[in-house]
Amino acid sequence: MKRALSGITPSSTKGLHLGNYLGMVKPAVDFQKTANCFYFIANVHSLNTVFDPQEVETNTMNIFTEFLALGIDTEKTIFYVESDIPAIPYLQTILNNAVTVAELKRMHAYKDKLQDEIAPDQISMGLFSYPVLMSADILLFDTDIVPVGEDQTQHVEICREMARTFNNRYGDVLKVPELYVKKDVARVPGIFGKKKMSKSLGNDIPIFASEQEIKKQIMQIKTDPARIHPTDPGNPDKNNTFTYFDLLQYDKSKLEELKEKYRKGTIGDVEIKTIFYEFFLDYFSEFRAKKTELLKDKKRIHELRLIGAQKANEVAIPVLERVKTAIGLA
Ligand code: TRP
Repeated sequence: MKRALSGITPSSTKGLHLGNYLGMVKPAVDFQKTANCFYFIANVHSLNTVFDPQEVETNTMNIFTEFLALGIDTEKTIFYVESDIPAIPYLQTILNNAVTVAELKRMHAYKDKLQDEIAPDQISMGLFSYPVLMSADILLFDTDIVPVGEDQTQHVEICREMARTFNNRYGDVLKVPELYVKKDVARVPGIFGKKKMSKSLGNDIPIFASEQEIKKQIMQIKTDPARIHPTDPGNPDKNNTFTYFDLLQYDKSKLEELKEKYRKGTIGDVEIKTIFYEFFLDYFSEFRAKKTELLKDKKRIHELRLIGAQKANEVAIPVLERVKTAIGLA
């Protein structure tokens, strides 16, 4: 069986949202059927943006728990927290020599940061070196496939480059991983329009928040602006609620009926959103209940974290030893 590896950065106190679920979590959960999976909470990555230690800690355990609730099977999958694997930052330091500053400057994440913020020399080394840390995450586990959302493709490409550069220098030491992007769900738009759903933009629909918070977000979904009265004909393509219905595989004929009513102007936007809100709660109810259940036994969650770390370290340590031997550090 192929080895699949992916991670998620716990950078929000609000937990996982619909975009995370469709873009990363659901494909990851499905992958468990066909691959030998390694999934982790990338809390070292979160140090780029989260400076409150308590928050780092809380976010890490929260996302860890939510992942479990959404269907990570710890019997099959090696599920761990990045900071529990000391070989990762060690490998990052080694890989820093397999990539140039010019290559890292071409990364979107870095360029985006330049655009909406500060001068280039004010960007932290942590953010700049983020693709190197991510490459270490991947290469340390002899990964075959990396399932990620579309926004991470460039980072996986540069990881492949680093592995090749390293291998050219030292021989066939690192496994060059394949990228896997699930096309139809790779990009989930946020509630305000075309921009990607992301917690930092506030355009997300959180999965585990209170019903009121979920409702508040759903009621703000952007609708066809040409439609002023509920009796005006509308274009379903301009109302993201329909996109979400689609992505969550709402019953096709019912959805077509709703779209038809929307086109004819025989259904209001609030009504559509209310139907979606109920569908959303229903879709996630089992997962939400599971999280509540898991939180009753925090000790067990910590135990699962320890077990995951142990299994992951068993795989990681020999790979780091192999790398150290290849470069003259053994
Ligand atoms: N950078 C990814 C994100 O923000 C998370 C991540 C960290 C990751 N390390 C990884 C994903 C390794 C896949 C493989 O979503």
